[in-house]
Amino acid sequence: MVGSLSEIEGRVARRLLVTGGAGFIGSNFVRYWCDAYPDDWVVVLDALTYAGNQGSLSDLAGQENFRFVQGDICDRSLVDELLQAENIDTVAHFAAESHVDRSILGPAAFIQTNVVGTFTLLEAFRQHWKTLDSPIFLHVSTDEVYGSLSPRDPAFKETTPYAPNSPYSASKAGSDHLVRAYYHTYGLPTIITNCSNNYGPYQFPEKLIPLMCINSLIGRQLPVYGDGQNVRDWLYVGDHCGALDVVIHRGVPGETYNIGGNNEVKNIDLVQMLCQLMDELASELPVRPCNQLIAFVKDRPGHDRRYAIDASKIKTQLGWTPSVTIAEGLRETVKWYLTHRAWWEALLSEEYQAYYRQVYIS
Ligand code: NAD
Ligand code: TYD
Repeated sequence: MVGSLSEIEGRVARRLLVTGGAGFIGSNFVRYWCDAYPDDWVVVLDALTYAGNQGSLSDLAGQENFRFVQGDICDRSLVDELLQAENIDTVAHFAAESHVDRSILGPAAFIQTNVVGTFTLLEAFRQHWKTLDSPIFLHVSTDEVYGSLSPRDPAFKETTPYAPNSPYSASKAGSDHLVRAYYHTYGLPTIITNCSNNYGPYQFPEKLIPLMCINSLIGRQLPVYGDGQNVRDWLYVGDHCGALDVVIHRGVPGETYNIGGNNEVKNIDLVQMLCQLMDELASELPVRPCNQLIAFVKDRPGHDRRYAIDASKIKTQLGWTPSVTIAEGLRETVKWYLTHRAWWEALLSEEYQAYYRQVYIS
């Protein structure tokens, strides 16, 4: 669905370290990259937390340009060893604790991985990058660092002041600041991307879209926080991978690029769209029509009202725009969850059920 820059003339092969490559966006990125650039070498470093899943990369297991390493980005000696032994020139840093509700229940892991882990990678890359031809440290971040918009506020630009409201977004903001500082202080060739909400295949069931798909299929209620009027700017994950491709090849070190889908949707409208797709595409449903399962539940503390990305910089400077409409992307995503039942059923573990009870039933 999404094109790459694989035809660039005279392109020199890259050697990537992809942190968090067994997570949602990371695994989509690794698949995208291995397909687009078969002459590149891709090493995934992932701790396989609850959100990491080697099964999300199983189709790449036999691929010759790919290696998986289980390990923690906070493990400095492991990171040093990988950077040197694999002669890495490109770090694509996705590894993070990524779920706002979990950051409210237990922020410590967010500080450790998102702040200390990013610091560890930066320090290791600082010792490593100077002898390389075209080194890049790409830090994949979120629009949530900018805080919350009112309905008529202009969308987030790269110059919007940071105002994070959750432990998750605060920890990502902290990591962004470190990445920026390493460019200005040490000249490290870093680039930051701040992206809006992603959706698509391989997203962990705790996030809104997979949660609604899976709950519809198992006949569980569809919990909409508060009044359901919160707005998110949805981006299909394949489009995000295409944007990161453009940033790695054409981005300017020291710069920040906002990435968004031009798809602002209220949560309740999105859930209604998903219910309609489920009714249409699922052959068996415990409750039909699905929207009978919608339940407005207690709001998330500090719940940001609206996110919206102004993606004009990446469009005008690097030539990237999203290509997948929300209608197309949601249809593909629903079909994927319908046809990959074994993938998500394996994730509905006792740990997940305990988390679910804490957020939705306590
Ligand atoms: P995810 O939670 O699905 O995946 C995170 C991955 O990181 C997992 O595979 C996990 O095992 C790994 N990981 C966690 N801690 C680690 C550690 N200490 N060492 C090594 N690996 C570790 O997250 P995602 O949704 O794929 O997000 C990826 C990145 O993109 C994150 O940095 C997130 O902040 C950012 N982002 C996400 C979205 C979104 O909508 N999902 C939007 C914008 C930005
Ligand atoms: P989420 O997927 O957790 O992403 P983020 O918090 O990073 O934006 O949530 C997207 C939106 O959906 C957010 O406004 C919170 C809301 N939401 C619900 O209403 N119910 C849910 O069960 C979940 C997980 C999210």
